Amino acid sequence: MNSQIKAAVTGVGAYVPDKVLTNADFEKMVDTSDEWITQRTGIKERHVVAESDSTASMSTEAGRRACRAAGIDPSELDLIICGTITPETLCPSSACYIQRDLGATDAAAFDLSAACSGFVYGVSIASRFIEAGQFSKCLIIGAETLTRFTDYDDRGSCILFGDGAGAIVLQPTTDPTKGVQYTVMHADGNGWDYIWLPAGGAKLPASQQTVTDHLHYLKMRGRDVYKFAIEKMQWLLADCMTACNLSADDIDLVVPHQVNIRIIKSAAEKLNFPLEKVYVNIDRYGNTSAASIPIALDEAVRAGRIGDGSMVLLIAFGAGLTWAGAVVRL
Ligand SMILES: CC(C)(COP(=O)(O)OP(=O)(O)OC[C@H]1O[C@@H](n2cnc3c(N)ncnc32)[C@H](O)[C@@H]1OP(=O)(O)O)[C@@H](O)C(=O)NCCC(=O)NCCS
Repeated sequence: MNSQIKAAVTGVGAYVPDKVLTNADFEKMVDTSDEWITQRTGIKERHVVAESDSTASMSTEAGRRACRAAGIDPSELDLIICGTITPETLCPSSACYIQRDLGATDAAAFDLSAACSGFVYGVSIASRFIEAGQFSKCLIIGAETLTRFTDYDDRGSCILFGDGAGAIVLQPTTDPTKGVQYTVMHADGNGWDYIWLPAGGAKLPASQQTVTDHLHYLKMRGRDVYKFAIEKMQWLLADCMTACNLSADDIDLVVPHQVNIRIIKSAAEKLNFPLEKVYVNIDRYGNTSAASIPIALDEAVRAGRIGDGSMVLLIAFGAGLTWAGAVVRL
């Protein structure tokens, strides 16, 4: 391992479908209201994939945009990781379709299943490959087509989810002040049923009964997820700051998983961290799981909120249970 080498973010890109589902649309579908959804989650609208699109096609476009921003051709990539829990197919991986469609013929490609933490897990893993000198042009994607696994009869969960994809390119740098400075990853399988998709896997293969029983949709213990998310968000923020000896003044932006505005606010308040340094776009996208951080990162870069030299913290938690953080200087 060459500790002189770090993984620098050289390009960021995202793709979000045009179609929008507003809270008013949900008022016509289930027993809910714009007021309830806004107050409890902060969500106003979310994007829904077009019929002709899916996880791989959204990822391919996000990846193409990230490569363009990095000034490289996708054919130069040597690694593609796609963080997703809504893969194109169970077999092969979404990453292999993306590799084909990007023409990245020399790239190794695999999916990473860590739910909402998938993108940050991917950043951590790709960084280690770069530091070890094994790969030098890595595309890390977070992408979800959650609306195809959402039970629109379940008002407790259906109002939360949206679709989209985001991606970054990581490349080696010898500048020690740049790139991925620190990562942390954890899991606790005891919380397997906080958020899960019961059928379609080896444990419970698809059958007429599983379809009838709505077992191909995400199930969620909302209150338990809420408590877990608040605790882990605080823990991750504190851990990343301590590990890199950072104060709030040293940090330009925290990009948290867009889970719920109340969770984000509560964690920031408890740690006395200024909310204006925490990126929030859940109002426009809902919860897009692994895609939420790279979509937000792309928005923040394009809006000029962060750029060359910015200190950014990425914080995620989700099904598994999983949680992960990364400290990155752009
Ligand atoms: C889902 C979530 C918004 C629910 O908010 P909450 O404050 O915990 O609400 P509760 O689940 O306790 O439900 C409160 C009431 O609202 C009702 N309710 C649930 N969904 C509703 C909806 N869409 N519209 C109106 N009422 C709703 C419940 O039935 C319940 O009614 P009751 O008191 O008569 O039983 C919240 O728990 C949450 O955001 N959890 C995290 C979920 C998440 O992000 N998962 C993905 C993880 S990465």
